[in-house]
Amino acid sequence: MKLNKIIRTLVASTVLFAVSATVHAQTLKLGHITPPTHVWHQISEKIAADLAQASAGKMKIAVSPLQKLGSEAQMINLMQAGAQQFGVFTVGGLSNREESLLAWSLPYVFKDVAHATRAVSTPAAKQMLKRLDNSGLVGLGYVFAGMRHVLSLQPVASAVDLKNKKIRSFPSPVYNDWWNAIGAAPTAMPLSEIAPSLTTKLLDAVDVDLDALVGLKFHQQAPNLTLTNHMAFPAVIVVSKKWWDSRSQAERDMISKVVAGAEQWGFKAAIDADVMNLEKVKADGANIIKADIAFFRVVGGKVRDKYIAKNPLIAEFYKQAKDL
Ligand code: BEZ
Repeated sequence: MKLNKIIRTLVASTVLFAVSATVHAQTLKLGHITPPTHVWHQISEKIAADLAQASAGKMKIAVSPLQKLGSEAQMINLMQAGAQQFGVFTVGGLSNREESLLAWSLPYVFKDVAHATRAVSTPAAKQMLKRLDNSGLVGLGYVFAGMRHVLSLQPVASAVDLKNKKIRSFPSPVYNDWWNAIGAAPTAMPLSEIAPSLTTKLLDAVDVDLDALVGLKFHQQAPNLTLTNHMAFPAVIVVSKKWWDSRSQAERDMISKVVAGAEQWGFKAAIDADVMNLEKVKADGANIIKADIAFFRVVGGKVRDKYIAKNPLIAEFYKQAKDL
């Protein structure tokens, strides 16, 4: 009788332990839109691995690439509800919530990826992250893809070669203004639609970074690469504010520390990737066009002026970032 009671107590406490372990070792979700070859996926996997280690297995993150959890707009909605805890979202996608993030897409502000990573430390860049609070997101850091260039079916040696040409543009107003000002015909589309649109000749050219280009092999469809270097391409590492507010201070500190480490790691990875990816496309036989980009720069200045006049934080950022 006594033995039975001991066994029952043991079974009950085992079940209780298992249930509470399940509750505490909740699997968290991190979503982003890039392919698994992209540097943002590597940074996401690093956050998952480092957080599992720092929390002794309590915080497990499942990383979903290629918009498997939905488009950025859909994932932002999930995060506001607390149903997705982590995201790596383009500044373009987030600028629908916080307009000042458009500052990162102003043409010809940054020389290269290293210059853009230095701009993360500006007060204006930090202020942009703070403002995401108003949209139910906590901005913890930035990540970078490569600089933007033009990939095309026919060689593009100057802006004239893009006159009225259908160019894939990133879905964001600065990109649309930029390509219209150049005289091209921009079509906003996500990464996933570029390959089929090149196949069906719906596009003459593509605005893209080298990391996405190499990962998705767009140069096999459009072999001409003009190194316009017209914009940087950052994303923000965000956490659901609803979920964040329900964590203890110790957990928030742990997550912030893990993300800060991944952010630094990601800066170097993105800088190195931009150099290596150019070598890869060259080795793959892409035709690198020596272009006259003077006109691109002049037009870039006009587009910048429009956005600087529109939003004081964009103006501040430009002032703080341009000469770093
Ligand atoms: C793009 O749509 O061009 C893009 C999106 C995410 C990362 C890199 C490129």
